[in-house]
Amino acid sequence: MAISFGVDYYPEHWPRERWETDAKLMQEMGVQVVRMAEFSWSRLEPREGEFQFGWLDDAIALLARYGISTILGTPTAAPPAWIIARNPEIQPVDSQGRVRHFGGRHHDCQSNPAYRAHIKRYVTAFAEHFGKNPNVIGWQVDNELGNSHEDLCFCEECEKRFRLWLQERYGSIEELNRHWGTVFWSQGYNSFDEVFAPRMTASGHNPSQMLDWKRFCSDLVLDFHNFQAEILRKAAPGKFITHNMMGFSDKISYFDLADHLDFSSHDQYPGGHFQEDPNAPRAARLAAPLDFIRGTKHRPFWIMEQQSSITGWGDMGRAPRPGQLALWAAQSIAHGADAVVFFRWRTCTVGTEQYWHGVLPHSGVPGRCSRELSACMHRAAPLMARHRGGLPKPKVAIVFSYEQEYAFQIQPHHPELTYLGHVMTYYRALFERNIPVEFVREGEDLSGYEWVVAPLQYLMTPQKEAQFRAYVENGGNLVLTMRTGVKHEDNLCMDNQPLPGALHDVLGLTVPEYDCLRETDVQVDWGGARYRGLKWSDLVEPQGAKPLAVYASEFYAGTPAITVNEYGKGRAYYVATEMDAPLAARFVQEMVDSSALRPLLDTPQDVEVCYREAGGKAVYFVLNHTAQEQPVEIPAGWTPVEGFDGAPLPPYGVAVYEGPLPGEA
Ligand code: GLA
Ligand code: ZN
Repeated sequence: MAISFGVDYYPEHWPRERWETDAKLMQEMGVQVVRMAEFSWSRLEPREGEFQFGWLDDAIALLARYGISTILGTPTAAPPAWIIARNPEIQPVDSQGRVRHFGGRHHDCQSNPAYRAHIKRYVTAFAEHFGKNPNVIGWQVDNELGNSHEDLCFCEECEKRFRLWLQERYGSIEELNRHWGTVFWSQGYNSFDEVFAPRMTASGHNPSQMLDWKRFCSDLVLDFHNFQAEILRKAAPGKFITHNMMGFSDKISYFDLADHLDFSSHDQYPGGHFQEDPNAPRAARLAAPLDFIRGTKHRPFWIMEQQSSITGWGDMGRAPRPGQLALWAAQSIAHGADAVVFFRWRTCTVGTEQYWHGVLPHSGVPGRCSRELSACMHRAAPLMARHRGGLPKPKVAIVFSYEQEYAFQIQPHHPELTYLGHVMTYYRALFERNIPVEFVREGEDLSGYEWVVAPLQYLMTPQKEAQFRAYVENGGNLVLTMRTGVKHEDNLCMDNQPLPGALHDVLGLTVPEYDCLRETDVQVDWGGARYRGLKWSDLVEPQGAKPLAVYASEFYAGTPAITVNEYGKGRAYYVATEMDAPLAARFVQEMVDSSALRPLLDTPQDVEVCYREAGGKAVYFVLNHTAQEQPVEIPAGWTPVEGFDGAPLPPYGVAVYEGPLPGEA
């Protein structure tokens, strides 16, 4: 039977006598799967080679009697004290040379050979033992890879690996010197052994070295994953491997990771999140990571941890309002989750996460949250069976790039400019009009999209230039933004022609000058209406491009801020500043007015509409993220799906309709 719902379960936190009550309650609620054991190393191997798998066997068997399958995690995000006592060199070292000690989690260096040996022993025994169990359906390697390793590890082992990685990338030290521009500040190297990990310096860093370090760190985390995944696949070939990713977390490229997974998973905590863009309205901020994780494979994904009550460690978030938990779960499903696993089953009484609340409170007595989630599961499961596997087919793609993000972390230009924040300008404006978006990685086939938005294409390659050119030539609508074509992929500035480089004829312009908007912004005029450009102005000199909006303040008033150029069968837009929200909304209106692009529905702010394909039709979700009742005008061809609210939508209400696919009304 296909799985729709589950919980993250830690039976080792509770007396055995309670387990059956838990299993019974889970079954009544509609739980079909648990994830377990990803933090249980000390209980499963309390001393080297002394495996105590029996209690977990029992838990799996008991749950199976209640129709609940198991996903098992490898416990490498928290190596036990006996390992650290024996091999203290496993503990990671930060950029200032300080050791991160035992006592929390993620106190591991992912390069360390002693640690790899411990992992090999444990994971092999674990996989061989549980791989035979038919109730174990899949694996998760580690937990939230990249989490807590702020600047990763600068220990000697990591440095050694970095040198090997560089040797492989550049072949010779002369090449490295050239690609890193080491003539500056006397950084020339005679051999790879002289190259250091970029630890804290007296002043500044080489941007090319920093970019390679970030690439290396992403590759290291990927290697750490694959090292374990290979053991698991060998021992238990019939089971899936997934990973609980964290939306836009940046330590490892999730595109690369997803290539090694059977499907992607994501952890969704609307009440306490990662890397929030404070400028993005809430609903858009919650939706974007879901769309992003879908984009890692363009396939349905799982939520491996979905918020089930109040979040918190030392401090706590708000109590979810009545309806909110079900709304958030529905949002995950609406954006492509085929299964939702709630974190965690019961709020724990011990440890760091005593206040990261679960489905059940500390007392274990079901309360409001568990009643709401139970209702949510019973109501949604039949619907999920209907659209399982189905996805939306967005006409707009947003190119997402870890490399561009890294480059802007290294040199943000403006203290408040972030890559993700800039990307969210476009995402949010499209979201607010209920225009579905697909995230794509750099280099991916773009031909299926009517619009491609590629923000901050700062690091440029001839391949990317050729791809963008061909896309427009063949009739695509391309949106490029400020700081396009500034650097080579090794983070050295281009010098062979004026900005934006080779794409100047596609865009019909050059950018001879720019202005960093420190402590100010710039007025923008579009057809007599006033907007603001933020953080940055590229000063555009049109060479055929038509200005849509112009700067209306500063010494460059009258200079184009947004342009469009006809090229081949398509059009290329250039947005020379970071748009404020009203300007971005105006830009999306231009997208709608100038093409066949249409919103799914017009709704009040923070009432979201999205859809999934289901057997040639569409299932439309209308999600009210506000605390007020909201009117929504439902198209005549949409029929309500039983069990969900209708319009007007109650506060935090979820309405679901079946209707023709977008554009087929
Ligand atoms: C993450 C982790 C979980 C737990 C929760 C709550 O998502 O994967 O192990 O720590 O956060 O903090
Ligand atoms: Zn290390």
